[in-house]
Amino acid sequence: MYKITGTLLSEVEIKAKVKELAKRIDEDYNGEDILLVGILKGASVFVADLMREIHANVNIDFMSVSSYGNGTTSSGTVRIIKDVDVDIRGKNVLIVEDIIDSGVTLRNLVDTMQTREPKSLKLCTLLDKPHRRKANVFVDYVGFVVEDKFIVGYGIDYAEKYRNLPYIGIVEDVE
Ligand code: IMP
Ligand code: MG
Repeated sequence: MYKITGTLLSEVEIKAKVKELAKRIDEDYNGEDILLVGILKGASVFVADLMREIHANVNIDFMSVSSYGNGTTSSGTVRIIKDVDVDIRGKNVLIVEDIIDSGVTLRNLVDTMQTREPKSLKLCTLLDKPHRRKANVFVDYVGFVVEDKFIVGYGIDYAEKYRNLPYIGIVEDVE
């Protein structure tokens, strides 16, 4: 049976990190407008908190994507289930993810978004699990580098459960 067996990151730790990331983002964009693109559903909580710590003018949009194939290729297509509502050409786009694991999802998404000619395209993820990386993707803003454990909470699910946990916990198969 799968159970939450521990806390990886507390609410307090997450809140401090979100503030720190927002500060870096504000400094880097230097007053320019930013289009935050949250990747559904996992990044919904993170992007909602992050946008409230950013002082620059932000617009927010969302995408829902799923990766094709066996996940072993570093280039491929990403199936867009829900696209952004706006034309991103000429805009400063900051993609906001919950967690990057193999990197296949983001790699494919970045390639797709680049063809739309934004002014700039950067990536922000709350969590980075580098151990199983298959696709080469540079992430501009990383909250926490975490171990290769299955994690939930703060928007992240296990079989659609636990997204509403205010902290990030570890899920394990226990007797
Ligand atoms: P990838 O980087 O293409 O492998 O996909 C990353 C996506 O896999 C994330 O956006 C999550 O939806 C999901 N994912 C990866 N690791 C975890 C985890 O530990 N818990 C829950 N979802 C995860
Ligand atoms: Mg996700």
